Amino acid sequence: RGGNGAAPTAGPVPPPALNQRCPFGPSPGLTALRDEQPLRPMRYPDGHVGWLATGHPAVRKILADPRFSSRLELMHLPFELDFDGIPSAPAGDLTAMDAPEHTRYRRRLAGAFTVRRMRLLTERVEEITAEHLDAMERQGTSADLVTAFAQPVPTLVICELLGVPYTDRSRFQGYTAALSGVDVTLEEQIAAMADLSSYIQELITAKRTAPTDDLLSDLVTDGGFTDAELAGIGSFLLAAGLDTTANMIAYGTFALLSHPEQLARLRAEPELAAPAVEELLRYLSIAHTGIRTALEDVEIDGHTIRAGDTVTLSIEAANRDAERFPDPDTLDLGRRTTGHLAFGHGIHQCLGQQLARVELTVALPALLARFPGLRLAVPADEVPLREGVNVLGGVHGLPVAW
Ligand code: HEM
Repeated sequence: RGGNGAAPTAGPVPPPALNQRCPFGPSPGLTALRDEQPLRPMRYPDGHVGWLATGHPAVRKILADPRFSSRLELMHLPFELDFDGIPSAPAGDLTAMDAPEHTRYRRRLAGAFTVRRMRLLTERVEEITAEHLDAMERQGTSADLVTAFAQPVPTLVICELLGVPYTDRSRFQGYTAALSGVDVTLEEQIAAMADLSSYIQELITAKRTAPTDDLLSDLVTDGGFTDAELAGIGSFLLAAGLDTTANMIAYGTFALLSHPEQLARLRAEPELAAPAVEELLRYLSIAHTGIRTALEDVEIDGHTIRAGDTVTLSIEAANRDAERFPDPDTLDLGRRTTGHLAFGHGIHQCLGQQLARVELTVALPALLARFPGLRLAVPADEVPLREGVNVLGGVHGLPVAW
């Protein structure tokens, strides 16, 4: 294929379908572009001629290179917006910051994700998982896995992380359900977001007066952030940690139920849980696309990306690149997945990945162990997929029976 050492051979392509699930992988149009030329010029909807990176080596190099910025105001988008202009990043959104601002936030936050805190959270993840499986069992022989399990488990884990008191939890769950629900209108979502940020403000005030044993209290007492910054961080952690993990639980279950021989392997070999989670992360690549803009001219694989050029990075295509992962479109729970980009790479690599791994390695095997007869309650092609470039990959619902 073209690529290393090759100058662009073709003119700019229009943006391909990103996050168009079929049902688990990138669209054939996207993979065809990768196999033809893994880094190539692309014409953005606003007329800008930038780049599309789809090959694993190019995506990884660009994510690791500080000459590429994550700031929203420098970006051209590979999709049309329903409104004018790119909104500015909400306070506390680390993913839209460059060094040195990013370094300040990241150091303090990383300092709060301690080994001790992760160990305490692991115990709670186990309890929360068991409680929800008990409730599913009590309730009958079928359920929507998203609302019964995949959403509430990570929501309660975030409550633990932020130290949301028990008495406030149903209120908190109401806001988060309104944010991610399928039938929720934009007005309802905006209202839920406003309720949630004023709730987080209240929580910060409470932690300042009476700190408790949780990450938010650690950040409040550390003194390095203003209340406004803390509120932004609280909302960002919620956004970063909730839908991602919830989608991986539901979509991961869907992938396993659709690959019975892999499912049987996982049931037979519990020690496969950790590599299986990594393989599901690679195979599904729910955080499918990244965007960066060059701050100066950069040479990558024989191409010159000029200062000001935006590059769209297809993580879903890179994680299915045969140059890095042999037989990439096969779900193989025992394979080596080192170097997958599902948590990103470089300075923005997911700060919550350890927690996400704990949630997935606890929740998925516990679900399979509890319901040996777990199956889809609808034909696989009727499972509603989350598609479109500005949403995470995943499912809106997953009707299951046992
Ligand atoms: C960043 C994926 C769970 C907190 C990221 C990025 C990806 C990602 C791809 C990089 C974004 C970029 O480069 O712009 C995922 C996936 C998850 C998950 C697939 C679940 C399976 C979590 C959880 C938390 C979390 C549970 C915390 C509660 C963060 C934070 C960042 C981040 C704070 C920003 C890091 C930075 O910019 O320095 N995540 N994430 N994530 N994630 Fe996660």
